[in-house]
Amino acid sequence: MKIKKAIIPIAGKGTRFLPATKEIAKEIIPIINVPMIHYIVKEAVEAGIEQIIFVTASGKYAVEDYFDRNQELEAFLEKNNKLKELELIKEIGSMVSVTSVRQKEQLGLGHAVLMAKDMIGYEPFAVILGDDIVVNDVPAIKQLMDVSVAHNGASVIGVMEVPKEDTKKYGIVKGEFINNTTLKMTGMVEKPNPEDAPTNLATPGRYILTREIFDILENIPRGAGNEYQLTDAINVLCRNKTVMAHKFIGERFDTGSVPGYLDATIDFALKDPATREHLIEAVKKRFNKYGITL
Ligand code: UTP
Repeated sequence: MKIKKAIIPIAGKGTRFLPATKEIAKEIIPIINVPMIHYIVKEAVEAGIEQIIFVTASGKYAVEDYFDRNQELEAFLEKNNKLKELELIKEIGSMVSVTSVRQKEQLGLGHAVLMAKDMIGYEPFAVILGDDIVVNDVPAIKQLMDVSVAHNGASVIGVMEVPKEDTKKYGIVKGEFINNTTLKMTGMVEKPNPEDAPTNLATPGRYILTREIFDILENIPRGAGNEYQLTDAINVLCRNKTVMAHKFIGERFDTGSVPGYLDATIDFALKDPATREHLIEAVKKRFNKYGITL
């Protein structure tokens, strides 16, 4: 069994990133000069995914265009002998096969995933959220794929530890540990208060799911926020099928929020020798300017 398809829902309104998201897709906003979505798709490609299915909405065309060839730009770069840039642009345009499906009304993540039903066959598939970047040598989604393979193609939900007081911000899993990093799930709770949280394991946006999830999504009622929640469907799936949760290795950035976006930007700038010195000097200068001492 090989997981070849990944659904990347990008139809959300991105209200935490207004006003930029009034006119542009959140996923195209760059961390320095690379759009967020580039990192998400790269993770999928490095995990062996062969087809990306974007669940899109109006105004998101730039995401699809980004992964397409741009003949005019290529000709311009070639003419001006900008061969390094030409290589980069061509590479992005041929990274992976991309298709898209529309979510006409933003009725929640569960509803968004359901929109891709007809593009998924009978094999398990990946779901990766378009605004959650995870940095690690072995892609987070590949780590989940490996757990799925080890459990006969079961669904696997990526989880990370969060401080107890933060459980109310996330879907939290419950279940029994079978080893240090993997649980057999018995259910999920959406945004519980710390005192009600069964664990401190949150689900930041990496899933391997089996086809049964679509039948469930077609039948669940609206949940939190009056939206069709993927969490509610996974809860039902746990009752009928094996669902594992796996603590993936990697640093996760919630780039859909302004603080998470800042964290990623600073981290990426410090990691890259081309920008590191500039950032350090720029910060020193502003610390002086604003009288900040650490
Ligand atoms: P979020 O909860 O982050 O919502 O959705 P959002 O609209 O993107 O951002 P905020 O909270 O308003 O700032 C999680 C993921 O699910 C997708 C989003 O695009 C995001 O990748 N999503 C959400 C959809 O595709 N459709 C929906 O109806 C809701």
